[in-house]
Amino acid sequence: MVPANDATPPLGISRNGKVIELDVPIMAAPMAGAIDPPYRVLLHRYGCALSFTEMVNARGLCDGSARSLSYIESPPAVGYSGAQLFGSEGRYFSKAASFLESRGFDIIDLNAGCPKRKVLSNGAGGALLKDPARIVELLSSILDHVKVPVGAKLRSGYDSFDVPSFKALLKDIEGAGASYVTIHPRTVSQGFRGTADREVIALASGTVDIPVIASGDVKGPVDVLDYLKRGASGVMVGRVLLGDPTWFVRCRAALENGPDISFPSSPDDIISLMDIAREHMEISISFHGIEKGVRYLRPHLSWYIARFRGRSMFRDTLFSLSTREEVLTFLDEVQEAWTCELPER
Ligand SMILES: Cc1cc2nc3c(=O)[nH]c(=O)nc-3n(C[C@H](O)[C@H](O)[C@H](O)COP(=O)(O)O)c2cc1C
Repeated sequence: MVPANDATPPLGISRNGKVIELDVPIMAAPMAGAIDPPYRVLLHRYGCALSFTEMVNARGLCDGSARSLSYIESPPAVGYSGAQLFGSEGRYFSKAASFLESRGFDIIDLNAGCPKRKVLSNGAGGALLKDPARIVELLSSILDHVKVPVGAKLRSGYDSFDVPSFKALLKDIEGAGASYVTIHPRTVSQGFRGTADREVIALASGTVDIPVIASGDVKGPVDVLDYLKRGASGVMVGRVLLGDPTWFVRCRAALENGPDISFPSSPDDIISLMDIAREHMEISISFHGIEKGVRYLRPHLSWYIARFRGRSMFRDTLFSLSTREEVLTFLDEVQEAWTCELPER
């Protein structure tokens, strides 16, 4: 592992004299149903300096939908907070963006990559890549109404990666006044199949002067350094964060000192992970109340134990948990069984 210092220059995302500065250029990706407000609070307690809300329907926010509003509640007190909007009509974006700015969000992001059928059928998310002029129009609707930095998160194309049209889109996004662009270098049709094409990032960073942020298949510091070497200014991390809230702390340490970040690999690691799961439960309950707090915690609990070989024994219990006491008993039992599985370090 190459010690980072020079290899991980800080990332500055700026607009109107406001600079979002990350000392290490890594951040948490928006992930619907996974990076929810309680988990964002936890990630920020453990080294994450910038995270995004999951995609929020611009129209839903304007209509005061309780669901849309719940996604943007309680942004983490520490670090920077981005909000991501999806939709297809500019009039909703301007109003929703102003509202988000008034709620203290530091960055507003446009989703132009979601491959979900329901989103595509409304002309939103990845469908916007079929209509690049609409992307610029939506960005302008946001930019005209807020002062904070604004950017877009794209796939590399709809059905295919076409170099000239992709470069033209990046130039248009930069020309519209965006402060950065994030690229998940798979096409919309590809979904999550295959691998992220890192060459797309090299091409993009040679095309525009605004920061290019890379998202796709990052597991640890080696991937971060590889994207930065190819010209990315920042790296966004998604699925690897599920069940692993201390990823940022360990990645930062590894970028400085070079050790492997394989986790959890000792009984002590398991005990600290279970302690963090208990902390997560308290945040979730104080955010949602008992019933919803435990319900929304359950998928996270299944991610926490995803690397535990004996997890199938706990499966039925996990999906019937409904009280704080049940969760605590569950975590104690998992901790006991899982620590027996691993040798002392
Ligand atoms: C469950 C899930 C939900 C996601 N939701 C969003 C979303 O709301 N907005 C978005 O721009 N991308 C979303 N993504 C894509 C991620 O932000 C990220 O670009 C992608 O997962 C690739 O990064 P990774 O390989 O590090 O996970 C989602 C991905 C997953 C797995």
